[in-house]
Amino acid sequence: MSDPIGRLSPVVRHAPAKLNLTLAVTGRRDDGYHALHSVFVPLALGDRLSLAPIAGHRDSLHVTGLDAGPPEDNLVFRALAAVRAAVGGGWAGGPGPAPALAVRLDKRIPVAAGLAGGSSDAAATVDGALEAWGAELDDDARHALAARLGSDVPFFLAGGPALVEGRGEQVVPLLGLHGVPGVVLVTPVVAVPTPDVFAAFDAIRGQGDGAVRQSSVHLAEELRAKLSAADLVARAGVLASANDLLPATSLVVPELVPFKRGLSRLLHRPVGLSGSGPTLWALYASESEARAAAEAVEAAVHDGTLVAPGPSAPFICATTIVGHRQEEAVS
Ligand code: C5P
Repeated sequence: MSDPIGRLSPVVRHAPAKLNLTLAVTGRRDDGYHALHSVFVPLALGDRLSLAPIAGHRDSLHVTGLDAGPPEDNLVFRALAAVRAAVGGGWAGGPGPAPALAVRLDKRIPVAAGLAGGSSDAAATVDGALEAWGAELDDDARHALAARLGSDVPFFLAGGPALVEGRGEQVVPLLGLHGVPGVVLVTPVVAVPTPDVFAAFDAIRGQGDGAVRQSSVHLAEELRAKLSAADLVARAGVLASANDLLPATSLVVPELVPFKRGLSRLLHRPVGLSGSGPTLWALYASESEARAAAEAVEAAVHDGTLVAPGPSAPFICATTIVGHRQEEAVS
């Protein structure tokens, strides 16, 4: 009898970070989550995962790169357990359970930063495990599984810019952008737990500002028809204030407010907050402009002109927005 594991091959997946160009909180749901209206875009910045079938019963995870916390708490394990249960005996070597996987995760997206790196890893794990096992799940099952893993996970199944509503489970792909806008990301080393931000949001407002929703609806319409990188940058001022969580995050981490102001002054442009933070962003018409700006931030942090909150220097990076749907890109 042939060895079923020997016939399977390892797979590699790119797990992109996301940025919220807008984030309107439109209400509180009966399940305690908040209803959102948000334009999500994937970034070129991403983690890299490889998944290899192995003998034995235990999945393993080896993390390199940025600190991702204790491996045993990583969402990758929950994603593997969930997708294995959903597949059952329906894999290339079935009818027994799908084999254990050895996962290597090269972490390039800072953790708990408002960039959804963990959610993206979970989505890439679901997709990568299915391919590694030679298994299939239909779109509805894949989507339901992703939504159970976390609010941001379904977005990553779309593979491009999307309008995200509900608690994150309603994902409508948008045509996107022409051109490749650059982005500078600055993530101070401060803890901003998402539940704390939503709790602060409830305490101060209970409901989002209608103006942010309007900006979000407008941007989604523009991206439905395709927008140029230059036109997106021209909207940066509106987008930088189109986040209903900003006052709540500012309450949770007050030090972020002067830092955001200082960053905006240094870069001479609007600076926004991604998701519940603490990552701050500035938009550029190209990657090279973003790179020059990131170098200016590095220099200012280094010489003390810009003082970042937190015990160590912030994560600073120049990347690009992936403005349209892409086939699987692996670097
Ligand atoms: O779904 P996920 O585990 O990523 O959500 C983390 C926390 O963020 C939730 O426990 C909830 O407090 C908050 N949240 C929310 N509404 C959303 C998404 C997240 O209240 N749409």
